[in-house]
Amino acid sequence: MQIAAEVPQQVITGEIGRTLAEMELGCPPAVTRALYGALGGGELGYLAAADVAQLQDAVGGWLADAYGWEPQRAAIRPVSDLVAGFRAVLTHLLPAGQPIIVPTPGYMPFISMPGQIDHPVIEVPMLRDAGGWHYDFEALRAAFAAGARLLVLCNPHNPIGKVATAAELDRIEELVAEYDGIVFSDEIHAPLVLGERQHTVYAARSARAAAHTITATSATKAFNIPGTKCGQLVFTNPDHLARWLEIGHWHEHQTSVLGVVATSAAYGGGREWLAETVAYLRGTIAEAVALLDAAAARTGIRVIRPDATYLLWLDLSETALLRDDVSAAQAVREAAGLVVTDGSECGAAGRGAVRFNAALPRPVTLEAMRRLIAAAESAGTQRAHTNRG
Ligand SMILES: Cc1ncc(COP(=O)(O)O)c(C=O)c1O
Repeated sequence: MQIAAEVPQQVITGEIGRTLAEMELGCPPAVTRALYGALGGGELGYLAAADVAQLQDAVGGWLADAYGWEPQRAAIRPVSDLVAGFRAVLTHLLPAGQPIIVPTPGYMPFISMPGQIDHPVIEVPMLRDAGGWHYDFEALRAAFAAGARLLVLCNPHNPIGKVATAAELDRIEELVAEYDGIVFSDEIHAPLVLGERQHTVYAARSARAAAHTITATSATKAFNIPGTKCGQLVFTNPDHLARWLEIGHWHEHQTSVLGVVATSAAYGGGREWLAETVAYLRGTIAEAVALLDAAAARTGIRVIRPDATYLLWLDLSETALLRDDVSAAQAVREAAGLVVTDGSECGAAGRGAVRFNAALPRPVTLEAMRRLIAAAESAGTQRAHTNRG
């Protein structure tokens, strides 16, 4: 195994965790070698047409092999990163002021950024039951009826780790078609599916879905290379593509040549590393969830095992950890020494929850879970004493 897995218990001191979705598990050796090679060859210029073609081949090859999807290679367009790509799509493909729909809890920039560029966000909370998370189709319909046209489909879904079912994607497609909408389908977490449910490329499902979708994809999340700055938008509607080709040049130009090198190497020589890493994450997540579940009756911490991603969405609303004076994340930091994302950054539906990034050496993640459990138990005991006193 190439990833660093063993950390002796005694070295796990200080705060644990990180708020961004990146892994403390390195990246594929093939990527490191390719980057050294590029540096040695002085490949540090601006993005050239040959780099774009190389990227289109690498990404096109991966999409075909991994998902059986073969979009036109020329419709795979580089962007520096997916947040920048999302921003460019909202700016250039939507009428100014038009609201957008984000199922929540949602990835933080989907909530915070659109409002800054005059696209109000209609948050549509996901429903949750013993079977997991589900889309609220009535609320999605109401959001379209209120004037929104673009739905952000984050599949697999950061931060809750859900992989949408075929039936759900069917209903989304129906609804979007009914309102002549657009789907921004962020599939950056697709290679990080941990469970049985397979990832489906939304735009690959039908000609109708393709015609109303812009797909966002990237090697950066699964291969842990976000600092290399290279993402892709895949256009499957000719009008969207034509508009992008009119306005996209300077957006594409922000993409790093080293990002193209890293992405090509990841898709070319990093697949074994990815398979090992996914297996490792699957084990870590399973053990972490088992620890939390075993203590749930004592702590009140609720977690749904994610189908994908290395993120754990921890609902603390029934624990004694929450305080009125600080956010849930700050309360967890003070009580357990964990650095987590506050759920409220993922929309109003996230209040009282935190997102923990479990892509750490397994002993570190498990130590984090033990600390959280101990902190929740201790807060519960203190509260019981206070209530009695
Ligand atoms: C769903 C989702 N989209 C986009 C991004 C950001 O990707 P990039 O670094 O390409 O902007 C992330 C990063 O965590 C993410 O989880």
